[in-house]
Amino acid sequence: MGTFAKYLYKEEGGKGKKKRVIIVNQGNKKTCETDHRINLAPVTVLLSIQEKVAVNFVSMLKSQRWITVVIQTLGSTEKGTFVRKYFSECSIPSKASSPTGRSSDIRLDGKTVLLTGGNTGIGKETARDLAKRGARIIIACRDMEKGTAAVKELVEDSGNESIIVKKLDLADTKSIREFAAQINDGEEQINILINNAGVMMCPYSKTADGFEMQFGVNHLGHFLLTYLLLDLVKRSSPARIINVSSTAHKMGSINFKDLNSEQSYSSIKAYGQSKLANILFTKELAKKLEGTGVTVYSLHPGAVRTELGRHLNVVIRASFKLFHFFTKSPTEGAQTSIYCAVAPELETKTGQYYSDCAQVDCSRAASNEETAKKLWDVSCKMVGIDWQ
Ligand SMILES: NC(=O)c1ccc[n+]([C@@H]2O[C@H](COP(=O)([O-])OP(=O)(O)OC[C@H]3O[C@@H](n4cnc5c(N)ncnc54)[C@H](OP(=O)(O)O)[C@@H]3O)[C@@H](O)[C@H]2O)c1
Repeated sequence: MGTFAKYLYKEEGGKGKKKRVIIVNQGNKKTCETDHRINLAPVTVLLSIQEKVAVNFVSMLKSQRWITVVIQTLGSTEKGTFVRKYFSECSIPSKASSPTGRSSDIRLDGKTVLLTGGNTGIGKETARDLAKRGARIIIACRDMEKGTAAVKELVEDSGNESIIVKKLDLADTKSIREFAAQINDGEEQINILINNAGVMMCPYSKTADGFEMQFGVNHLGHFLLTYLLLDLVKRSSPARIINVSSTAHKMGSINFKDLNSEQSYSSIKAYGQSKLANILFTKELAKKLEGTGVTVYSLHPGAVRTELGRHLNVVIRASFKLFHFFTKSPTEGAQTSIYCAVAPELETKTGQYYSDCAQVDCSRAASNEETAKKLWDVSCKMVGIDWQ
């Protein structure tokens, strides 16, 4: 497909007749019937925009609370019926649990959640919600000062005293091993492991072990951590492992010839590669864990106002601020992670990719079983483990 927009919005049928409207979003066709012409003129602005940009734009639009409000307001009108149909998946529940957006009262008393990068952004809001549900929470942070401040805030806000911070630097396999040893010695169970921490589009740098930073932290660090904690997680089953990926996986490919981007570095491609690796890891791990009572999920949280963009240049950051109404708050951004952690209907599901509290398709590259196997083997070699 060349430009995206001609497939984005197409009306069939003449004036006064029933019209069929076909909208394609992220490769999925949606067809809605309406008796009335719908003014989606702003959408046609996308005509001149390249496919990827348009897909992301529509996906961002779909995830906005203000659109939900507009839709609800329009709900009683005929135009509204169509708009509501189209945007029906975009509601952002204040407490995630079900694809319908209904809030959930699911409790996690007696359960333990381990979450990486819980001192800020999506991780902190995920921890806050799960703490309010009664779980014991361990946030794994590289900066103990920030981690301790986050624990204080989370305890005060949730009234749950069972929240602790432990030191983990995912950019250093020695730190990952020390952290895992402490958890394996000190904790009786891990019911929910959320691999959330991440770094995006940083200048070229390497981890302590010589891995490109984004691939090293986002993928290899969590790969090794999961391996080291897996026996404990299995003993705690039913248990869940959640890998926070991104729609940016669609911009990446696994460059087996140069995983560490030593020959050439594009910060966005390296981020895309690491997020693609999160999904491939999820799928392969889910297969290996079949029958163990441990299920695995990956997800895109949405475009969320967090500190993730700290390495982006000033102009890009300024434009994000300008278009802040197209992005989610950290609380909204945490909902799909929470959904994957608690939703009862996911108990029998494993290996799938989620967005806006619903299962969605990932890219073809992310569904390639051969790539997933190869990445698994290469990752084992890189971090020095034998994980069959
Ligand atoms: N925000 C978005 O729009 C968006 C979109 C798609 C996917 N995601 C994904 O969502 C996840 C959470 O991101 P966020 O938006 O909440 O970003 P954030 O606010 O920057 O939080 C990232 C967290 O990861 C931690 N971290 C970074 N490097 C680490 C390391 N070497 N060891 C341990 N922890 C490390 C950070 O710790 P410090 O505070 O010490 O730096 C921080 O706690 C990431 O995996 C990201 O790729 C976010």
